[in-house]
Amino acid sequence: MTTTTIAELGKHVGQTVTLSGWLYNSRSSGKLLFLVVRDGTGLCQCVLEKTEATAVAFDAAKRLGQESSLSVSGTVRADERSPGGYELAVTDVRPVQNASGYPITPKAHGIEFLMKNRHLWFRSQRQWAILRVRHTVVEGIRQYLNEHGFILIDTPIFAPAAGEGAQTLFAVDYFGEPVYLAQTGQLYVEAAMMAHRKVYCFGPTFRAEKSKTRRHLTEFWMVEPEMAYADLDDVAALAEDFVYFVVQKCLRERRGELEMLGRDLAKLEAVQKPFFRLTYSEAAETLRSAEVQTMLRLDLERARARVAEFTKLIAEKETEKAAPGIKEWKADKLAQEIMDARDELADQEEAVRNIPQHMELAANFEWGGDLGGSDETIIARLHDRPVFVTHYPRVCKAFYMKRSAADPRVVNNLDLLAPEGYGEIIGGSQREDDLAVLLERIHEDGLNAADYEWYLDLRRYGTVPHGGFGLGVERTVAWICGLKHIRETIPYARMMGRIYP
Ligand code: 4AD
Ligand code: MG
Repeated sequence: MTTTTIAELGKHVGQTVTLSGWLYNSRSSGKLLFLVVRDGTGLCQCVLEKTEATAVAFDAAKRLGQESSLSVSGTVRADERSPGGYELAVTDVRPVQNASGYPITPKAHGIEFLMKNRHLWFRSQRQWAILRVRHTVVEGIRQYLNEHGFILIDTPIFAPAAGEGAQTLFAVDYFGEPVYLAQTGQLYVEAAMMAHRKVYCFGPTFRAEKSKTRRHLTEFWMVEPEMAYADLDDVAALAEDFVYFVVQKCLRERRGELEMLGRDLAKLEAVQKPFFRLTYSEAAETLRSAEVQTMLRLDLERARARVAEFTKLIAEKETEKAAPGIKEWKADKLAQEIMDARDELADQEEAVRNIPQHMELAANFEWGGDLGGSDETIIARLHDRPVFVTHYPRVCKAFYMKRSAADPRVVNNLDLLAPEGYGEIIGGSQREDDLAVLLERIHEDGLNAADYEWYLDLRRYGTVPHGGFGLGVERTVAWICGLKHIRETIPYARMMGRIYP
């Protein structure tokens, strides 16, 4: 008998095979037992019929709890109703361990409970699909850069000084000296770029983000390519081709997972080159426009209507659930629907609270300030493909960004905003290659020039125009998967107030 995996079942139609995995779900109806088995590669419905020959196995299998480990043997047949398209007509079931009391049941669970049980939650279908998309995003990142001549440079996690804003540094005691967890590897890849021309680093980075938002983690993964003899246009061209490649790869290789997540694939397919470009000053003008106010006013009306709609829906479902004599499976189903509707209601209520503030922020947007999350969302929503916002005011950006020759108030930088309101997934720039200007910026930002001596050497010995960007893996995965919150895009999320498991 052939041992195989669920992903390979298509090659064994009509044959008898053995699968080894875990029991995802089971139900029986009279003489039939439906075991939904997962084995890490997929889900398969396995049907066991009670006959004289299978009676013992049938009774044993019926007692298996959710997530029991087991192997099943049977004949493979194509069946559209089975999750993976194939079904197993079972001849034998052999338990490995009979598990009981698995905490994550098919019933409804709140997000706090699920995050606390992250080590088990991985096994659920949606989480399984998300982490497979993440795998492909990471693979695509490496593949693109390796195939385009970029050399991998691993940069340190212990860093003696700030790479980005000093407000988000995590200090660590390093044999009695304070050092920091890296916020970026950029300064270190800039040095290696002088040796290899095109380089990248890819690893975890750390920011002490004291706010709990949908977009911020305290530990996240960032890939940072850096190129010598490159200006802002070269950086934008790389970012565009790179993001396009990663999205295409996911569409090709993870279509099944994205469909499982309910992702609107047409929206991802609309991601075509060239991406849209506008300057910060143009973005500022757009934010202050009457058109944006109208758009937000409509949003507000829609959100209010949905609050009313979901409030009514929840009340109806509650009544239905409380009906005497209701079947348990029906009550469970309603409980799940109520929980989903409550989540949606909470989102809409939040929108009703926030939109007036977003309208005010947009209407009064002043040249000089950084774009906030809501501003980015507004700009991104106006386009069906990613948008580059370039040339931000120097005062709201990092010290290392190149001052623009055409307008010294701005820098040659870019942020890439993902569509559908996802906001910034890339931050990048041409770097200040002039020693005197760079020193001036270091002083302006109140940084200690001595900490950056080695970095200044790069401007002393063969300085060249150069630039690069950083792409956040989790924000990219959230966008590609169409998730509201970044916390499910990383195996173990680290956020303010969350460090377990
Ligand atoms: O815009 P940022 O801060 O840029 C840098 O760190 C540069 N040194 C990159 C470079 O030019 N080499 O961060 C880059 C990206 C953001 O666009 C976002 O996708 C992600 O990193 N990011 C975060 N992701 C999750 N949680 C956070 N707290 C993040 N902060 C930044
Ligand atoms: Mg940024």
